[in-house]
Amino acid sequence: MKTKIKGFGTLAIHAGNLENETFGALATPIYQSSTFYFDSCETGGRRFAGEENGFIYTRLGNPTTSVLERKVAALENADDAVAFGSGMGAITACLWSIAALGKHIVADEALYGCTFAFLNHGITRYGVSVTFVDTSDLQAVRQALRPNTCCLYIETPANPNLKIEDIEELSKLVHSYNKDIMFVVDNTFATPCLTRPLDLGADVVVHSATKYLNGHGDVIAGFVCGRQDFINEVRMFGLKDMTGAVLDPFAAFLILRGLKTLELRVQRHCENAMQIAEFLDGHRKVAKVYFPGLKSHPGHEIAAKQMHGGFGGIISFEVRGGKEAGMRFVNELKLITIAVSLGDAETLIEHPASMTHSTYSPEELNAAGISEGLVRLSVGLENAVDIIDDLDQALRRV
Ligand SMILES: Cc1ncc(COP(=O)(O)O)c(C=O)c1O
Repeated sequence: MKTKIKGFGTLAIHAGNLENETFGALATPIYQSSTFYFDSCETGGRRFAGEENGFIYTRLGNPTTSVLERKVAALENADDAVAFGSGMGAITACLWSIAALGKHIVADEALYGCTFAFLNHGITRYGVSVTFVDTSDLQAVRQALRPNTCCLYIETPANPNLKIEDIEELSKLVHSYNKDIMFVVDNTFATPCLTRPLDLGADVVVHSATKYLNGHGDVIAGFVCGRQDFINEVRMFGLKDMTGAVLDPFAAFLILRGLKTLELRVQRHCENAMQIAEFLDGHRKVAKVYFPGLKSHPGHEIAAKQMHGGFGGIISFEVRGGKEAGMRFVNELKLITIAVSLGDAETLIEHPASMTHSTYSPEELNAAGISEGLVRLSVGLENAVDIIDDLDQALRRV
């Protein structure tokens, strides 16, 4: 970078860009090549040995993807980042790189359904044990830690019930117990626009970049961000050998384009969500609203401390009358689309218990505080008044 840049929006546009691009292209070119040639056998050998910089094969690195990785690392204030072909690719590669036979993981009870399934039924097949606790309860976390604990894993705000955990306090707690425990935060919901977990003491940030980072509903992607030595391990073991969940260079190009407007989009998502949460909170047909921006949310004070500039764009709520009324309400919506995923321009709604969190048993849902009637709204970039009108007309029909 030629000049010192501080602003988030400026970083999202300029950080990590190629400085001497062959033809002076303003947009980062798509290097749609699986492999890269060497001028001699010796050069190839030196690159494989790590003695010479240069690309080898797109699963190990690609010029387009590298720009994106440098940019996301800058946004998260990480040494480095590694891109993946999905959020689950990032999460599994991260956890494969941390855990080993006989190790133990402590994780929050409320997690994206497939992350929960990986921790609950996946990695446990390979001799890793997992304890699920309410990580907003520091005492419960302290009690769950063991001498073989290698990782604490949370999402904040959590999917789907927007539970808030105190990143700073959790970091102090686990690192005073054992400084080698890797504290991993899934920052998909907050984005680095609102929260930078590494600045608050976390060791690793993971993302589903399918969501806000790309923001246009046309890519599946993920990231792991952290210290250089760990990112090297995630790239050269987690990605290269374990998952192979590599990001396609065209998808990297689309995310680079999406990131240019991340700050603007997140501001609008937050403003819309605040208005909509207040509308839902005051509606007689709504039994409960989960949104960290509301003063009534149990995590509001912590969210106000660790989220800067807004409380995110996701709201969950329960319609009076339980699951059946909730389903009827969703089916009556006209502008709002029934779909999983989140963080897109379009407002999306889904029913976690039967969709994104159907990997949980009814008992596990109950323990995690995810009610059967909960609906999750990803507030889009439309005008808030139109989203509210649609919610209102559907609520009136229930
Ligand atoms: C919080 C969170 N983390 C991770 C994932 C997984 O990401 P992907 O669908 O990109 O694999 C999701 C997907 O919804 C998510 O919501």
